[in-house]
Amino acid sequence: MERNISNFDEYKKEYAKSISNPEQFWEEKAANFTWKKKWDKVLSWDFTKPEIKWFEGGELNITENCLDRHLEKRGEQTAIKWIANKPNEQSRNLSYKELHSEVCEFANVLKNNGAKKGDRICLYMPMVPELAIAVLACARIGAIHSVVFAGFSAKSLSDRINDATCNILITADGGFRGAKITPLKDISDEAMKSTPSIEKCIVLERTKSRISMQSGRDIWWKEEIKKVNADCPIEIMDAEDPLFILYTSGSTGKPKGIQHSTAGYMIYTEYSFRNVFQYNEGDIYWCTADIGWITGHSYIVYGPLLAGATTMMFEGVPSYPNAGRFWKIVEENKVNIFYTAPTAIRALEAKGLDFVKPYDLSSLKVLGTVGEPINEDAWHWYDKEIGNGNCPIVDTWWQTETGGIMISNLAGVTPSKPTFATLPLPGIQPCLVDEKGEEIKGNSVEGRLCMKFPWPSMARTIYGDHKRFKETYFSTFKNKYFTGDGALRDENGMYRITGRVDDVLIVSGHNLGTAEIESAMDEHENVCETAIVGFPHPIKGNGVYAYVICHNTPKNEDALKKEINDLVTKNVGPIAKADKIQFVSGLPKTRSGKIMRRILRKIAEGDTQNLGDTSTLLDPAVVEEIKSSAQ
Ligand code: WT7
Repeated sequence: MERNISNFDEYKKEYAKSISNPEQFWEEKAANFTWKKKWDKVLSWDFTKPEIKWFEGGELNITENCLDRHLEKRGEQTAIKWIANKPNEQSRNLSYKELHSEVCEFANVLKNNGAKKGDRICLYMPMVPELAIAVLACARIGAIHSVVFAGFSAKSLSDRINDATCNILITADGGFRGAKITPLKDISDEAMKSTPSIEKCIVLERTKSRISMQSGRDIWWKEEIKKVNADCPIEIMDAEDPLFILYTSGSTGKPKGIQHSTAGYMIYTEYSFRNVFQYNEGDIYWCTADIGWITGHSYIVYGPLLAGATTMMFEGVPSYPNAGRFWKIVEENKVNIFYTAPTAIRALEAKGLDFVKPYDLSSLKVLGTVGEPINEDAWHWYDKEIGNGNCPIVDTWWQTETGGIMISNLAGVTPSKPTFATLPLPGIQPCLVDEKGEEIKGNSVEGRLCMKFPWPSMARTIYGDHKRFKETYFSTFKNKYFTGDGALRDENGMYRITGRVDDVLIVSGHNLGTAEIESAMDEHENVCETAIVGFPHPIKGNGVYAYVICHNTPKNEDALKKEINDLVTKNVGPIAKADKIQFVSGLPKTRSGKIMRRILRKIAEGDTQNLGDTSTLLDPAVVEEIKSSAQ
């Protein structure tokens, strides 16, 4: 393992080198991996197309780097430490050797069922080791995995399967989450009614729920595994071959299949993992995210395994059986590095210290947050009550599209500042631009956050829609990748992310498209038009506020609200349900018909005084009505 950056001066040197000679910089990092063939060219890029290629001509397999490469030195070391949802259920440790052989076996199952390099395979699974195994098995045979978070609805699942024309779906009979069972196979059955491309559905037994199996299509994991051995040579992949697709919400109702490629993603997730968390040999690392999100892909599975770490996986939720669960797990497993979301911190803070105090958290060395801006209060609580004032907190800013952490302090190595993601990692060249796309130079400034230069783990396209990729990320500002976030840069050049400046809402750290929720609500026969905005929510960061115009005055508003939210649950998932629904007779629109969301956001925030300029509105009277009936 290469040495981590160990002090601020070294960071500055690394950073300077990564900017003055990016190709040499990344080439040195690439040399630490196992390649089947060396690359011809480190980087070629053109943001106008956009086309980005790293390590072209190189050949490798990422699982050889996650697994085989470690067998000699750390075959017996725990690779994945899995903690069950139920506190009394036995946890599971998989050594690198065991993980290697389970991945090879399942890769053979996939092959036996017709999977080939380049196929898209959908995973809709609970947080059990088999999810990580299935992810790696896909990568081993060169199939492109598309993990769909197990909280999504049947409709969301089928949309994602169809968008990528997946031929195999891997799911489970059910998933345990807190006191509930998610009926994953039933939901999959519903989804598969409209997914003609699915030929096989491989079902893992987890909850032993009663499910139906369609003969010819549905097969049991445990039966298939009996038919194979653990000998599965790697599929040799080009550096730029796609590794996975992961869907994220956008400004239209249709989610975007963000596509990542192999070598650059590998190099960057390993490098960022080690340096941000200051991972040291033997550390126990726990990221509480779900593998259904990018955080789980990059910092539960790939980054840690590439670095030869012990990565923990938790099946359950922070509140089950009570709000002390995280801290109990930290104590029992002597966790050294703990990475979670601000929404979880706020929710646990709200439950009080009685759930924290009983536990010995002295094993902790580094704390991290991701997914949304962390507010000052939550930062201090995390620092004091969890870190005992002596664990650096890394506030890691990044996105599904960036593949890895982009702006963050390096734990204990570079300075931290509450609510600031702080400085870019080596190789990352952020900038702020004004509305016209002019770069805002200097410090103590605010603008839209862009990237001026490619980095290895950046998304390469939106699956099947390169035009949308270009329009969404590379057209707003010439020759720059636009993040969709606003940010400020303080007097020391440190970044603070202020939030989305587009139509994406971050709710409990989940990225939701307002258009996606609106189109779900619009399906109701009595709903004429809707507008979704966010409003500050003490736990979730943002809550969902819906303004709804009905065709006919609702007889029973509460019943209608429930029906509307049921549609959201069905079409998007329960995380997208509206916290507040306000029935209105009209929406504030410009003369060109654009909804003035700025005004709706203000009202949702409870600020009805400072609505700004409303003179361009088609019908200013509607604002008065909305104000007077606001919730
Ligand atoms: C959006 C990306 C990155 C994995 C999880 C979310 C927001 C993310 C931070 C942070 C402030 C943050 C941004 C970003 N975000 N991390 N540390 N501080 N905001 O991935 O679902 O693709 O969402 O999450 O708004 O654009 P995602």
